[in-house]
Amino acid sequence: MTTALAASTDALLGTYRRAPMELVRGAGVELFDAEGKAYLDFVAGIAVNALGYGDAGLNRAMHDAIDSGLVHVSNLYRTSPGERLAEKLVESSFADRVFFCNSGAEANEGAFKMARKWGRTNFAPPKHEIIALRGAFHGRLFGTLAATDRPQYRMPFRPLAGGISITERDLSELEAVLNPETVAAVIVEPVQGEGGVRVIAPEFLRGLRALTTERNVLLILDEIQCGYGRTGKFWAYEHAGITPDILTTAKPMAGGLPMGAILMTQAVADAMQPGDHGTTFGGGPMVASVGLHVFDRLHDPKMLAHVTTNGAWLGAALESLAARSMRVRAVRGMGYIWGIDVTDAAKDVVSRALDLGLLICSAGEHTVRLLPPLVATRADLERGVQLLEQAIG
Ligand SMILES: Cc1ncc(COP(=O)(O)O)c(C=O)c1O
Repeated sequence: MTTALAASTDALLGTYRRAPMELVRGAGVELFDAEGKAYLDFVAGIAVNALGYGDAGLNRAMHDAIDSGLVHVSNLYRTSPGERLAEKLVESSFADRVFFCNSGAEANEGAFKMARKWGRTNFAPPKHEIIALRGAFHGRLFGTLAATDRPQYRMPFRPLAGGISITERDLSELEAVLNPETVAAVIVEPVQGEGGVRVIAPEFLRGLRALTTERNVLLILDEIQCGYGRTGKFWAYEHAGITPDILTTAKPMAGGLPMGAILMTQAVADAMQPGDHGTTFGGGPMVASVGLHVFDRLHDPKMLAHVTTNGAWLGAALESLAARSMRVRAVRGMGYIWGIDVTDAAKDVVSRALDLGLLICSAGEHTVRLLPPLVATRADLERGVQLLEQAIG
């Protein structure tokens, strides 16, 4: 049962300009509003709903978790789902240890602390600086805001957390600033999502890995938006054939329930002692049970092949749209994450798409972003591209 919303509310803090319709139901790759209008969803809760809406397996996992009666017990006690999920994450990646938390920004805040603790434990004087890249988005909490390259987000909160700076996406620039005596870590998104869907070149990532290793600096990869299968590989770093020291993940992990994780090597884990970090909710049995189901579904080679093949088709379709339209300047992306630079304001294209029944979001003033659920079929993608072309005009 739903009740119609009032025209507006003063009860919610106005940090979001929400679209006007009230969403009441989801099915597959579609959302429905209170008037019954359907929307093909190429936002997926901002890269969260990889399995779409109403997925039978996901629903079952959620019901089973509830039926166990064990939603939360805190990290003072052992529970099986979190331990099993951590083991799967370790087996599937470079990592030796996992710390669970509740969101992307929280994962990055934790990663910064771990880098600092590593820098303090292993070097005298301690190394503490963290470097992020131009165009980066790592979150809006206090530490992560200093690593997020959006002047309008940063300005009102200056002075920002210290010891965190932003450098150009340029290896010679990084060579100049990576002081081995002061820098603890560099943080990079293999695909910068919010910053306009910029795929960081594999050669750049390999060069950065070599440089950070040579200078004894940790490499943190933020795969909060691009990991968990969205690029066609389970981890985006696999495309470059490198491994990080720390990796952060979150969005799709628990099918829409809040969950994040920090994956790390033993060398980083060795610096962390009981009490160095904590969370009341992180890795609780309910979210971790659902997380186990999501992991198995998205880690399935068939799912990854589906994203690779259909993502290549989507890229080609967008390139051909760009060739036909004077209103498209550039297309970037891979798998199921794409950015389209448009001549109009991105928000106008987003709003026209919404009228046509397609949900897309922006990634900068003139970039619209497509993040379809990973279960979207070729037919869904075709329909999305047709609607997008109409919305671009
Ligand atoms: C790459 C990246 N890092 C961090 C975050 C922050 O995640 P959250 O909104 O869950 O705090 C986001 C969110 O969009 C993101 O895309």
